[in-house]
Amino acid sequence: MNIDNSAALHAPMASVLEMILGALPLPEGPLLDVGCGAGHKTALLRSTLNVAGSLVGIDCDREALSAAARGGMWAIAGDAHMLPLRTACCGAAVCLATLGMLHDQRTALRELRRVVRPGGWLVVVTATTAWTFWSVRLRDWIQALLAERERRRVDLLLTTPEPAVDLATLIRDAGWREVRAGAFVIETGDEMSRRVLPLISQNSARQQLTPARLREYDALVADADMELLPLMLVATGW
Ligand SMILES: C[S@@+](CC[C@H](N)C(=O)[O-])C[C@H]1O[C@@H](n2cnc3c(N)ncnc32)[C@H](O)[C@@H]1O
Repeated sequence: MNIDNSAALHAPMASVLEMILGALPLPEGPLLDVGCGAGHKTALLRSTLNVAGSLVGIDCDREALSAAARGGMWAIAGDAHMLPLRTACCGAAVCLATLGMLHDQRTALRELRRVVRPGGWLVVVTATTAWTFWSVRLRDWIQALLAERERRRVDLLLTTPEPAVDLATLIRDAGWREVRAGAFVIETGDEMSRRVLPLISQNSARQQLTPARLREYDALVADADMELLPLMLVATGW
């Protein structure tokens, strides 16, 4: 299994991203992509948002940035906790599959608030966070959700569980307003996405949980249903 194959790994998220971004207004100024990586989402961002103007990507991985630049964005090396940008210089921002990797999410969200002009929006997508900070508390919610999905026979389900509310609080505390959050269960039949998302999350979970929470977490992931469920949290703020 190649966990560096990010394009294939993130493919199941495309339909959700398109839906969320499609409902947002065109940014009035450059669109910022924090943690842009190799720019796998550049084409999707441009086509869904109809962004003809500048797309600015920031990442700490210079090798990935070279690829992002070739894909047609302004690629800048920098740290999400201290963005190398002027205040209010961007029209809107996205932070995709990156927030869960940051050691200080509050600072990064405040930095995003600083560089996006008042009235501009932010979209955060995170798959890993649900499996790290909130995974133990998710047990009942996931089971209810699985039952509901079975009843309605749908592949993609949006709901607002406790972890999404927590993500909303985090974003609101960083100065964003009108924050809305939801969680998506994604089932694509894509074996790699089904296996890799929880795998990545388990690694970061192990570093962050206390020994007691870790034992509880191990008990949780021992349940195959839980482990194979890709879950994605999405939040927007203004
Ligand atoms: C899973 S990748 C997601 C890439 C891209 N957003 C996408 O959806 O395809 C996470 C990215 O966050 C970057 N990253 C992690 N910590 C960072 C930090 N402190 N500052 C800037 N970028 C960071 C990594 O280098 C990596 O490219």
